[in-house]
Amino acid sequence: MAARSVRKKPARKKPARKKPARKKPARKKPARKKPAGGKSARKKSAHADADDQARKQRDISVSEFFAKNRHLLGFDNPSKALLTTVKEGVDNSLDACEEAGILPDIRVEIEQQDESRFRVAIQDNGPGIVRAQVPRIFGRLLYGSKFHRLRQSRGQQGIGISAAGMYGLLTTGRPVKITTRTGRGREAHHFQLIIDTQKNEPRVSVDRVVKWPVQHGTRVEIELEGNYRGGQHSVDSYLRQISLANPHARIVYQPPSAPPEKGNGKARPPEEIEFPRVAKQLPPLTAEIKPHPYGVELGVLMQMFRDTKARNLRTCLQGDFARVSARIAEEICKTAEVPSSRRPRDVRRGEAERVHKAIQKTKIMSPPSDCIAPIGEDLILRALKAEVEADFYASVTRRPAVYRGNPFLVEAGLAYGGNLGLEQPITLFRYANRVPLQYQQSACAVTKAVIGTDWRSYQLQQPRGALPVGPALVMVHIASVWVPFTSESKEAIAHYPEIVKEIRLALQECGRRVATHIRKGKREADEAKKRAYIEKYIPQVAVGLEHILGLNERQRDKVVKNLTNVLEKSRKL
Ligand SMILES: Nc1ncnc2c1ncn2[C@@H]1O[C@H](COP(=O)(O)OP(=O)(O)OP(=O)(O)O)[C@@H](O)[C@H]1O
Ligand SMILES: [Mg+2]
Repeated sequence: MAARSVRKKPARKKPARKKPARKKPARKKPARKKPAGGKSARKKSAHADADDQARKQRDISVSEFFAKNRHLLGFDNPSKALLTTVKEGVDNSLDACEEAGILPDIRVEIEQQDESRFRVAIQDNGPGIVRAQVPRIFGRLLYGSKFHRLRQSRGQQGIGISAAGMYGLLTTGRPVKITTRTGRGREAHHFQLIIDTQKNEPRVSVDRVVKWPVQHGTRVEIELEGNYRGGQHSVDSYLRQISLANPHARIVYQPPSAPPEKGNGKARPPEEIEFPRVAKQLPPLTAEIKPHPYGVELGVLMQMFRDTKARNLRTCLQGDFARVSARIAEEICKTAEVPSSRRPRDVRRGEAERVHKAIQKTKIMSPPSDCIAPIGEDLILRALKAEVEADFYASVTRRPAVYRGNPFLVEAGLAYGGNLGLEQPITLFRYANRVPLQYQQSACAVTKAVIGTDWRSYQLQQPRGALPVGPALVMVHIASVWVPFTSESKEAIAHYPEIVKEIRLALQECGRRVATHIRKGKREADEAKKRAYIEKYIPQVAVGLEHILGLNERQRDKVVKNLTNVLEKSRKL
C-alpha cells in the first residue's frame, strides 16, 4: 500500500510541475529586455546559435589543415624543417630511380642565403616526371602514385614533397622550382609554382621548355626558413644513414658554405661530400600485392563490395584479395551462408558481417613474401663495416611475417667494440623501408623492442628500462608494403605486437652472436693474463729447481726453455 501511495504522489505532482514550464515565456521576457543594457546582453551576443554556427561551417582544405598543423608533417622547427625537406626529396628520388630500374645518382645542395634562409636542391637521374603531372605533384597535398597500392616504397602518403614546398612558401613566399626531363629525345621542362592552400590546387607562374644537359631526371629547388645544425638530427647524419641502408645509391652532398672567416669577407667554398655506391645492383623489384583478407576491416570490406568491378561475390573475393582461390572463396561464402553468385553491390550489411567473420574462420595462406625486398645480411655487414670500425659485426634478416594482413620483414645489424664508445648507451639506427628515422626514438616500436630485450644475458650492461650500455651500434630495418607510422611525419613505427616480436627475435639472434664473441674475448684476455703470469715465474721456477736438484747453469737454462716451449704449445692448442 505504501508503495502505491508513493508512486501516485509524483504522478499527481506532474501537472503541477508543468505549470512553471508554461510560465517560461514570462521568464524569458526579462531576457529579451536585457539588450537594453547590462552584462547578460553582451553574453547573449557572444554565443552562437545553430544558425550562426551553420554560417561558419565549411570545408577545410587539406593544405589549410596541414599548414596549421605543419608539426604533423615534420616541420615543427627550422632545423627539423630543413632535414625534412632534404629527406622528402631524397626519398622520392630513390623511389623513382628504383621503380624505373636506374641506379640512383643523387645530388643534394644546401645554400645558406642569410642567417635563417636556405635554398635546398635535390637532383636525381630518375625517369623524370611527365609535364602534365608536375603541377599536381608539387602543388597539391595528398596527390601521388603510392597511396593506393600495397607495395614497398619509401613514400606512401602523397604529401611529402608538396608539403615541403608549402612550408617553403609559407616561410619565404618563394615558389618551388622544378626542372625535369623524361628522356634523351624529349624536352626538359622548367616550372615554378606555389600551392593555393585554400583550394589545395597548384598555381603555376613559370612553365617553359629549357635546355638541360641531364638526359633524364628531376631537380627540385625549395627556399625555406631553416637552421643548419650538426649532430644526430642533422642532414649530414641523415645522408650518412641513408647511404648505409641504400648501398646501391651514390649521393653527392654539398653542404652550405662555412661562415666567412675573420678579416676575409668571403665564405669558404664548401667541400662536397660523396657517399659512394657500395653495391652495383639495385634491390630486387618488389611486387605490388592485394590486401590479405585477414587484415581487412568490416567497413573496408563493405566499401570494396560497393566499388568492385567483379560480377559476383566469388570472383570479387578471388580477384580483389591476396591468396584467395576459387575454392577458398566458395568456402568463405558457404560458411557465411551468402550465395557466391550474389552481386557484391547487393550484399547487405548483415551478410557482409557474416562474410567478414567467415574469412577469419577460413584457413588462408599467409601473404606472398616477394613483395618485400630486404637489404640482406651481406649488404648490412658491408655497410656496417664501411660505416664504423669495430671488432665484431653481425647481421640477421628474418623471414617475412604479417601484421594486420600486411607482410613485413625485420632485419638487424650489430657492430661491437673498436672505436665505438664504451660507457654510453649504444647507438641505435632505425630504418623503415630503407629510410632512417631520426626523431621520436622513444615512441618507436624499435626502441621498445631494444629496451625489452635482455642484453645482460648477451654480456652487455643494461640499466632497467633503458637502452643497453656499451661499445655497440645496432641498426634495425623494417620493410613492409605499408609501414604503420605513428604520424604523417613518418618518424616512429607503431607498436604492433607482431612487429615488436619480430624485432626482438632479430635482436636476440644478434645478441647471441655478440655474446659468443664477448665471452671468447674475455676467455682470451683471462688466458693471456695467466700466461703472462706463468711466463714471469718460469725463470723463478728454474732457479728453485737449480737449488733443490743442484742443477748446473746449462740444465737450468734448459728447464726455462722446456717450460717456455710447453707454454707456447698450449697457446697453439
Ligand atoms: N623525383 C621524382 N621523380 C619522379 N617522380 C616523383 C619524384 N618526386 C615525386 N614524384 C612523384 O610524385 C608523387 C608525390 O610525391 P610525394 O613525395 O608528395 O608523395 P609520396 O612520395 O607518394 O608519399 P609521401 O608523402 O609518403 O612521401 C610520388 O608518388 C611520385 O609518383
Ligand atoms: Mg615522397
